[in-house]
Amino acid sequence: MNLDRVNEIIDTYRADRTNALAILQDIQREYNYLPRETLELAAQRLGITPGEIYRLATFFKAFSLQPKGEFMCRVCLGTACHVRGGPRILETLERELGIRAGQTTVDGKFSLEVVRCLGACALGPIMVVNEEPHAYISPDKAISLIAQLAAGKVEQAEAPAVQPAARAPVDLSSVPPAG
Ligand code: FES
Repeated sequence: MNLDRVNEIIDTYRADRTNALAILQDIQREYNYLPRETLELAAQRLGITPGEIYRLATFFKAFSLQPKGEFMCRVCLGTACHVRGGPRILETLERELGIRAGQTTVDGKFSLEVVRCLGACALGPIMVVNEEPHAYISPDKAISLIAQLAAGKVEQAEAPAVQPAARAPVDLSSVPPAG
């Protein structure tokens, strides 16, 4: 694995261990998950132990140690979206994609996850594909959307650029010890 990009990311944060969380976020954005080699390099460059970096990577649900699909589909099942039909959206996607929530299709195209409230309850039911929200989604619209994504017919918005300075440093001591 070419780790040049990981070194660039770490350099962006001056290899400062207090930015470990932001660094992991950027690495995950780059690879869609956190490959083992990238974690080992990050630990080495930040001067922390592999155990510490793995604790951080496994403590936050947003991180994944497993490869994710090209399109990460998150279906909201918070209360408002639940009563507006969120479960039917999830069932539809599970059936159409042939996977359950938490899984990735064998071709690596789609991953499916459930989230609890995205803070846009009035727009529910809502699903998010990568960083792009899709409001008032219906089962038919969900089927149409994944068909278009699979065919490469939907432009996905780039993930919003986040300036390093805008992120709060993370205190590694706030992450509970393993075990
Ligand atoms: S419950 Fe779905 S956005 Fe709030």
